Amino acid sequence: MTLDQKNPRSNYLTTIFWDNDSVKLIDQTKLPEKLEIITCLTYQELAHCIKRLAIRGAPAIGVAAAMGLALCAVKSKATSKSRILEELKSAYHTLLETRPTAVNLKWGLDTIFRELDKYETVEEIKKNVVASAIKLSQEDIAINKKLGKFGSDLIKDGDVVMTHCNAGALATVSYGTALGVIRSVKESGKKISVIATETRPVMQGSRLTAFELVHDEIDVSLIPDTAVGHLMANKMIDKVIVGADRILRTGHVYNKIGTYQVALLSKSHGIPFYVAAPLSTFDLKSSTEEITIEERSVEEVTKIGDKRVAPAGVRIFNPAFDVTPPDLVAGIITEKGIIYPPYEKNVQAIFDGI
Ligand code: MRU
Repeated sequence: MTLDQKNPRSNYLTTIFWDNDSVKLIDQTKLPEKLEIITCLTYQELAHCIKRLAIRGAPAIGVAAAMGLALCAVKSKATSKSRILEELKSAYHTLLETRPTAVNLKWGLDTIFRELDKYETVEEIKKNVVASAIKLSQEDIAINKKLGKFGSDLIKDGDVVMTHCNAGALATVSYGTALGVIRSVKESGKKISVIATETRPVMQGSRLTAFELVHDEIDVSLIPDTAVGHLMANKMIDKVIVGADRILRTGHVYNKIGTYQVALLSKSHGIPFYVAAPLSTFDLKSSTEEITIEERSVEEVTKIGDKRVAPAGVRIFNPAFDVTPPDLVAGIITEKGIIYPPYEKNVQAIFDGI
């Protein structure tokens, strides 16, 4: 079986799929050396995969969380509706606690939970939770293709586009958001080259973005994070497109650490900085004070593989995300079109139109 045969809707890498009461996913900790599939039989195993970044990227963990609930449902031995609902609530909390910043995780869980009241029996709940999780995974691909097309109109033939972290097939079910735009440009027949930043310390740029673009034969060059300003100053970048983990109604964008620096440098060199994200990444309720920025382990910074690259005893800060303020964002590419400033007004208008 190749990865793609399981998902006839996508010709690209498929990161996660439902398979005979189990969840299969690419183990992203093994990339780029090995393209290995893990099978999760319980929601606890899936929660562990999210925590240790075997699956990561906001839309992918949203779908993974929904599939976690589906695993909980199908494995349940409950004989009453109240009992299976209790089990699902416990799974909801375990899955929600895996990572704090990407809002898609909660969105995936809430989307499944909203439906539960409709069903009477344990069997109905099992069947429908699985069906809804599979539907979410299929919709993710369709949404990425739509936003990819909108974003493609922003790109001129021959453009060089920089991206940070991985907002590709590997960060979604397939196709990607920022890299979905790149794929759509290529499908339209325009020439495009990508500059990927390494994205220290977890290296999503070199391990994942470079991997999937090389895999799909899309022109890509890899640079150290520290080279962004130099390339921009030397007019080697036409546009920047990144993904997002959470976007507030004000247009504040939470994304991989380093995104803010890239946005500031883009502004100072007059390079348009775009964000590509589905509407499931928007959090219209919270303010910046309420969002938790995930702090990850110090070993991500002190070691490269098994080799120590910092002295024992040094203090480490390792925030996994940062916030890019709206004045640095030229536009937000969604499946409903591109949102331009002023964001407060135009984000609301997109949601009012749904
Ligand atoms: O820590 P990660 O790898 O989950 O962080 C991922 C990112 O920051 C991505 O840019 C974001 O989730 C957008 S994915 C379409």
